[in-house]
Amino acid sequence: MTPDYGLARGAAPNRQTGDSGDNTASKHSPLVSTRASREHSSMTTSLIAPTFADVQAARARIAPHIAVTPLIHSPALDAAAGGRVLLKAEVLQHTGSFKLRGALNRLLQIDEEARPRGVVAYSSGNHAQAVAYSATLLGMPSVIVMPKDAPAIKVERTRAFGADVVLYDRYTEDRVAIGGAIARERGAVVVPPFEDPHIIAGQGTLVLEALEQASQRGETVDQILVPCGGGGLTAGSALAAEGVAPGIKVHPVEPVNFDDMVRSLELGYRVANEPGHRSICDAIVTDIPGELTFSINQPRVGRGLRMTDDQALKAIAFAVRELKLVIEPGGAAALTALLNGQIETAGKTTLVVVSGGNIDPAILARAVSA
Ligand SMILES: Cc1ncc(COP(=O)(O)O)c(C=O)c1O
Repeated sequence: MTPDYGLARGAAPNRQTGDSGDNTASKHSPLVSTRASREHSSMTTSLIAPTFADVQAARARIAPHIAVTPLIHSPALDAAAGGRVLLKAEVLQHTGSFKLRGALNRLLQIDEEARPRGVVAYSSGNHAQAVAYSATLLGMPSVIVMPKDAPAIKVERTRAFGADVVLYDRYTEDRVAIGGAIARERGAVVVPPFEDPHIIAGQGTLVLEALEQASQRGETVDQILVPCGGGGLTAGSALAAEGVAPGIKVHPVEPVNFDDMVRSLELGYRVANEPGHRSICDAIVTDIPGELTFSINQPRVGRGLRMTDDQALKAIAFAVRELKLVIEPGGAAALTALLNGQIETAGKTTLVVVSGGNIDPAILARAVSA
């Protein structure tokens, strides 16, 4: 049987102005005691939290299908950051982002019997492409529900990876309801962007891989910065870091005005962003942390960091000039915070995740011509 994580239950429509809105979390879903809540008594969620062993299993499962992305060291970056930096270049992952890791880990666990009925996802960005790519790789049909105003390049790439794209109006329609109806009609599996144990375990393979690469070079990582949207990458990274070396803190990075995870961590409970803001960091403009992702992150991660759009444009230009890497604004969040002195780097080795490179060409032009 395919596991049912109750994904559509209580899921709130995306209220974000941005492109990704990869948020399936609800403020009102039923609170049921779980393994996570027993371990960390302040938290409750209806989903079972993955463990370090799940991240390790995910790594073995997805290994045949993913790229081992480079861990880059650059003297120019060290100089700009004021400390030793190792950059995990996940922009070079197939589909251009780390999202492939979670999507593959989820789809590979769908029973043979259920595969012909396919998968459904709602996303306008990297998760869409990752699910489309993974489904085609495994011979499954996929339907991706995307906003009408998603960047044309992302819609085109999602179609090119083999998905049927269903467009909706993000201001008047509920993508969760649309996706749920399609899934019910087809008997398809809904693949959420972050609020899912298999997705989180898959995302954790990135930091697991990076820490192994670092250790093979005799490097000791002191802290890790990751871009944060709904918190799946942060949660997987925290589980991986805890499993490898419990002293290493993961710091999630979010744009100003979309700092729901950062504020939630500061407050100790989940809070949403104020509506009405915009950001070029389309991949990470989620509304509120997931219940599951927050329950994993709260007891494990370090202080959250913030960055701005203007700073992101400068970081993107730096990456093109000095590192020869193309990074999208959301994927550059951690690098941006690092370059703007948001965390102490002197005398430390900082692992920075650049998580995606699917940038709108107009924004890339704006960044490099500034
Ligand atoms: C490039 C990129 N970085 C970071 C994130 C944030 O991931 P999460 O929602 O798991 O926090 C996303 C999410 O779509 C993304 O596309």
